[in-house]
Amino acid sequence: MKICMIGTGYVGLVSGVCFSDIGNDVVCVDRDIKKIENLKKGIIPIYEPGLEELVLKNYKNNRLKFSTNLKESISKSDIIFICVGTPTKKNGNGADLSQIFNVAQEIRSSISKFKIIITKSTVPVTTGDEIEKIILHKVSKKLFSVVSNPEFLREGEAIRDFTYPDRVVVGTNDKKSNTVLKNLYSPLISKGAKYVNCSRRAAELTKYASNAFLATKITFINELANLCEKLDVNIEDISIGMGLDKRIGGRFLRAGPAYGGSCFPKDTKAIASTADKFKTNLSIIKSVIKSNENRSSLLLKRVFDILKGKIKNKKICFLGVTFKANTDDMRDSSCLTMIPSLIKKGALINYFDPTGEKKEFKNKKNVNFSKNINSAIKNSDLIIIHTEWNDFKSINFKKIVQNKKFRIFDMRNIYAPKKMKDQKIKYFAIGR
Ligand SMILES: NC(=O)c1ccc[n+]([C@@H]2O[C@H](COP(=O)([O-])OP(=O)(O)OC[C@H]3O[C@@H](n4cnc5c(N)ncnc54)[C@H](O)[C@@H]3O)[C@@H](O)[C@H]2O)c1
Repeated sequence: MKICMIGTGYVGLVSGVCFSDIGNDVVCVDRDIKKIENLKKGIIPIYEPGLEELVLKNYKNNRLKFSTNLKESISKSDIIFICVGTPTKKNGNGADLSQIFNVAQEIRSSISKFKIIITKSTVPVTTGDEIEKIILHKVSKKLFSVVSNPEFLREGEAIRDFTYPDRVVVGTNDKKSNTVLKNLYSPLISKGAKYVNCSRRAAELTKYASNAFLATKITFINELANLCEKLDVNIEDISIGMGLDKRIGGRFLRAGPAYGGSCFPKDTKAIASTADKFKTNLSIIKSVIKSNENRSSLLLKRVFDILKGKIKNKKICFLGVTFKANTDDMRDSSCLTMIPSLIKKGALINYFDPTGEKKEFKNKKNVNFSKNINSAIKNSDLIIIHTEWNDFKSINFKKIVQNKKFRIFDMRNIYAPKKMKDQKIKYFAIGR
C-alpha cells in the first residue's frame, strides 16, 4: 500500500518505518526541513533503540522515503496518517489542535482521488468529526474517509510495541476503510495482535482512557509508597502482592518520581478538559493530575531531609534526566522541576544521561553535564538515580565516589537496601 505519514516525530517516524518494513511504500513528511535533510543522510532525529538500523535498511531498499512536499506526498498515497503533535494549550488544559487542523486544511487541497485519512495523533473525542467538516468544505464526501487509529507505542520500546501490539484499534463505520486497514495490519494481526473495530469517537476516547488509566496506576502506587515510608513497609512487596492478581497486573505499578513524558501529563489534562466541555466531571483523573503535580515537590522535600536541610553548595548528581530510560525525550520530565528548584537553593548540579547533554540545561548556571558516570558521581554529596537505564544498575559507588559521606537517593528502587547497608552507604529509596 502507498502510505503518507504527516509528521515525522516519535510516532510518525517509528510507525512509518515499521509500515515500510512490512512491505508498504511509505513517505514520511515533515515541515522541519533540517529533520528531513538529516533523515535522507541517515541521521536519526531521536534516540529509539533499533530505529536507526530499520530506517537505513528500508531507506536503502527504497520502500521508505522522506519529503517536505506534503501536496505531492498526499497525491501519491492512498492512506494518509496524521502524526503531528497535540500538546497542551498554552492557556488552558485542553489539547492544542492547531497542528491537526492545519494539516486537515493542507490535505483538503490535495485530494483528487479516494483517500483514507487517519488520525494516529492522540486527539480528543469528536476531533475526527471536525477534520471531516474541514475537508468537506472543499472535497466531496465520496473522495475521503476520516478514521481514528490511535497509537499505543511507548518510547524506548517503540519498535517492539508497534510490531507486536496488544491491540490495534480502528475507529470507523466505513466498511471499505475498515477492510483496507485490516489488510494493512494483517502482518501484525497474524502475530497475535487483536484487531478492534469501533466507532471513530470510541477509538479516540479509548486512547485517552488508556493513558489516563495507566497514569492513575502510577499515581496510585506512588501515593501508597508515601504511606509505606511512614510504616516501614516495603512498597515493592505491595507492588508484587497486588500485581500478581491478574485483575490488577504488575505493570505500571512501580513507585518512582512523578510520571512525565510527552503523553501522560498532556493526555490526562486533555481528557479531563474534554469531559468538562461535555459537562462530565472526571474527578478521579483530576485528582491524579493534582497528585502527580505535587509529587516533584514531595520528592524535593525528601532531598532536603536527606541533606538535613543543607542544600547550599551541595554537589548533587542526577543519573538520567529524561522522563524515563531508553529515550531522549525531556518533555515533562520531573527533572525540569527538580533541578531548577535545587539550583535556586544553591545546589551545584552535575548530571549524566546516556542520551547526552540536554538543551534545557545548556548554559544554565551551576548545571554541568558530565560525559560519563564516573566523572558525574565522583565528587558528589548526593547521587539521585532518576531513570532506570541498565547503565546505572551496577555502579561500584564506593570505589568511584571520593566524598566518604556521600548519599544516594534511588528514585527507581534499583539497588537492594541491604547491600547498600552492608557497604555502609547512606541509601534512600522510594517507599521502602
Ligand atoms: N511520543 C509518544 O510516545 C506517543 C505515543 C503515542 C501517541 N503519541 C501521540 O502522537 C502524536 C505525535 O507525537 P510525537 O511524540 O510523535 O510528536 P513529535 O513532536 O515528536 O512529532 C510531531 C512532528 O510533526 C511535525 N509537524 C507538525 N505540523 C506539521 C505539518 N503541518 N506538516 C508536516 N509536519 C508537521 C513536527 O515538525 C514534528 O516533527 C501526539 O498526538 C502524541 O500524543 C505519541
